[in-house]
Amino acid sequence: MHPVDMRSDTVTRPTPGMWDAIRNAELGDDVLGDDPTVLRLQDMAAERLGKEAALFTPSGTMANQIAIRLLTQPGDEVIVEGGAHPFNYEGGAPAMISGVQLRTLAGNKGILDPKDVAGAFRPSDPHFPPVKLICAEDTANRGGGTPYPIEILDELCKVAHSRDAHAHLDGARLFNAQAATGVSAARRGKHFDTISFCLSKGLGAPVGSLLVGDKALIHRGLWVRKALGGGMRQAGLLAAAGIYALDHHIDRLSEDHARAQKLAEGLRTAGYSAPTPLSNMLYVDVANGPEAQNKLEEHGVRCLSVSATALRLVTHINVDDAGIEHAVSVFGQLADELLPN
Ligand SMILES: Cc1ncc(COP(=O)(O)O)c(C=O)c1O
Repeated sequence: MHPVDMRSDTVTRPTPGMWDAIRNAELGDDVLGDDPTVLRLQDMAAERLGKEAALFTPSGTMANQIAIRLLTQPGDEVIVEGGAHPFNYEGGAPAMISGVQLRTLAGNKGILDPKDVAGAFRPSDPHFPPVKLICAEDTANRGGGTPYPIEILDELCKVAHSRDAHAHLDGARLFNAQAATGVSAARRGKHFDTISFCLSKGLGAPVGSLLVGDKALIHRGLWVRKALGGGMRQAGLLAAAGIYALDHHIDRLSEDHARAQKLAEGLRTAGYSAPTPLSNMLYVDVANGPEAQNKLEEHGVRCLSVSATALRLVTHINVDDAGIEHAVSVFGQLADELLPN
């Protein structure tokens, strides 16, 4: 059996249908603005999220960074949750690209408390950096794949907008949040100024993300994307995969969530402490994270050690029932070595 790769939902390979879509894509030059497949993907993304316009980017990181650049000035402060991707995993880009200061607040499973956010705004005084942007992450990756309650998303936007700040939604896994809650991606992002979402995670496309927002803002995003080297020429090849993913891979996300739950149940039966996943991610406590990762890899189960004593496993389109059974069986066999004392 092939190793079951649950390091991340970024490891997926195109399905045969997606390969056909890529092969048959109509191409142009997207930097010159005439790649019809990219234009179609952008229109689809804007329509799905109920916004005016969308911009195709090579990565979720770039989509987030374009949003931060568009919605702030150097010297501004941006509020994020402590586990947020732009703070932890984007190479210091907000400081490098936008000259902003990030301020982290501790959330509950990655979910910001609007009261804490409101309390983080400071008086208008030249001593204090002005808070000009709030970023929320839905689902919250480091929070265990937790989807935001819709009331909190709405409240965060209210807090921002009533204080002359903007709100950005890092929806790398926004469609997982939709699948987990039944609240549509458009409704979730309704009050945000910008939303980024990834095609290359649960949706199963090889590359690409979108930034959506109003027309004027997204138009300005063209300059930022170009400046960051994110202008891609025959990008229709990638956009075709994205269109295929939006058409075919959203409704199936609940299968990934059900498999993550099955995996958690199996691990609990084998003696591990594994909370019931709220979407496609599972965090498991072990005695030694890096050692456990290596041991599991030797037995054909790939996952990531995310701390000294925790592993993360993520289900996705290339993890089937047999893969889950294999993983449960390997965790069971290795329980004596892996479990914390
Ligand atoms: C919540 C979140 N935001 C943004 C990103 C960035 O996406 P990319 O890897 O495409 O830059 C990721 C990637 O894992 C993510 O988990």
